[in-house]
Amino acid sequence: MSDDEFVFPLRDAFDCINGIEVNVAYGTLSRVSSTVTSPDGVTRRLLQWCPLTAADSLFVDIGCGRGRVVNLIASHVGCPCIGVDISPTELALAREDAKRAGVDNLCHYCQGDYRTFHDTVVDAAKRSGAVRPRAVCVYFYLIPQMINNRALRDEVIRLLESDVVDATVVCWMYLPRDWPYVTVADDRFSLCVYRRSPSPPAQRAAADRVAAQHGAADH
Ligand SMILES: C[S@@+](CC[C@H](N)C(=O)[O-])C[C@H]1O[C@@H](n2cnc3c(N)ncnc32)[C@H](O)[C@@H]1O
Repeated sequence: MSDDEFVFPLRDAFDCINGIEVNVAYGTLSRVSSTVTSPDGVTRRLLQWCPLTAADSLFVDIGCGRGRVVNLIASHVGCPCIGVDISPTELALAREDAKRAGVDNLCHYCQGDYRTFHDTVVDAAKRSGAVRPRAVCVYFYLIPQMINNRALRDEVIRLLESDVVDATVVCWMYLPRDWPYVTVADDRFSLCVYRRSPSPPAQRAAADRVAAQHGAADH
């Protein structure tokens, strides 16, 4: 989906889910949300803002749907990418699309729940060769009941607290109520970025420029 194709009435689909009890059957959630995919503009911003490289990074989409974001990140970055979703139908579509895009060797799709994904992701990361990635980016585009579920946050923290040096969580559309975050916005999209990084990319680039100038002046 291009930015231009993206229309906000998609919100209506979510708003009708929001009226349902928190313990809504997953089947219902999956059926309604299966048509909802992040616009590619969001993925472009992920690519700009997340310090991902082919060599030492891992990308994870919790509630990956048909894998649009996962497959694009894999194509552009070349790092192992993991998509977790409750719906086998969505996962099958995601795998087909990864194959078509020639990134099925990088993309690992796993059935799992957003409240208990840690072990699933760690196992898939091991299988993909991303045993101790330096940078991990976790993305999600989920409805408010899920975003604000404490178990989701606990699983994200478990995943990012281990050896990860550069940890980024990016969340679009519906944002957690009480996570500390830096909002990154432009004229088109606003994403929430939560990061634990020794040196965010913009600072790193600035530091590299300064180092290069000093290096040039030294000679
Ligand atoms: C809005 S879609 C997002 C798709 C994809 N992340 C994207 O941005 O294009 C939300 C996804 O959450 C999945 N989902 C619903 N309930 C879930 C659960 N309990 N655990 C994991 N995923 C779930 C749905 O199947 C759906 O694919």
